[in-house]
Amino acid sequence: METLVSKTIKLRLVLESDAEFIISLRNDERYNKHLSQTNGDVETQIQWIKEYKNKEKNKEEYYFIVERNDGVPCGTVRLYDFNSESFCWGSWILNTEKTRYSAIESALLVYKYAFEELKFQRCHFDVRKDNIKVNQFHLKFGATKVGETGKDFLYEIYPDDVERMKVKYKKIVG
Ligand SMILES: CC(C)(COP(=O)(O)OP(=O)(O)OC[C@H]1O[C@@H](n2cnc3c(N)ncnc32)[C@H](O)[C@@H]1OP(=O)(O)O)[C@@H](O)C(=O)NCCC(=O)NCCS
Repeated sequence: METLVSKTIKLRLVLESDAEFIISLRNDERYNKHLSQTNGDVETQIQWIKEYKNKEKNKEEYYFIVERNDGVPCGTVRLYDFNSESFCWGSWILNTEKTRYSAIESALLVYKYAFEELKFQRCHFDVRKDNIKVNQFHLKFGATKVGETGKDFLYEIYPDDVERMKVKYKKIVG
């Protein structure tokens, strides 16, 4: 699969050599407050990536490094939990190297790939209830809150919602 590119960032598939970068993000207290904990050791991460690569080959999951268009890595994002109609995304982190609108650009790239290339009809995801900013991001982006568990709000978003966002953000994301 080719790299997914927008105005200031691109998404490229994770490699074993990204293990250290991923660990540095996931162990950083600025970013991991609302994420599930990962084992902080490089060898374990490499093993995890190897197992992920099998899922990638089977088209079950896609894990991307977010890079600025000048090549500096600035985050991660993952598409997973596929069923016949819907996909989930998460593991979404952007560090201080991000460009101003990396969040909007990366969300649009994920939806574009999943809806237009992979042909999913719906997206489902969850956000920790106390992750106020990220809940606001998704609501503003056109997602609908469809439920909750003890710790998460559950959302859905459809291709039509994303089409509206594409128009709205045309100037920003080019
Ligand atoms: C989740 C994460 C990747 C989002 O990235 P972010 O850069 O914080 O996203 P923001 O909401 O600040 O959006 C980026 C910019 O787009 C703007 N923006 C976001 N949504 C917008 C909208 N609908 N319309 C207009 N502008 C919008 C923001 O205001 C911000 O611009 P600013 O810097 O001028 O204020 C990042 O916060 C992160 O890594 N968090 C830690 C990990 C985490 O919690 N991940 C989510 C797990 S579910």
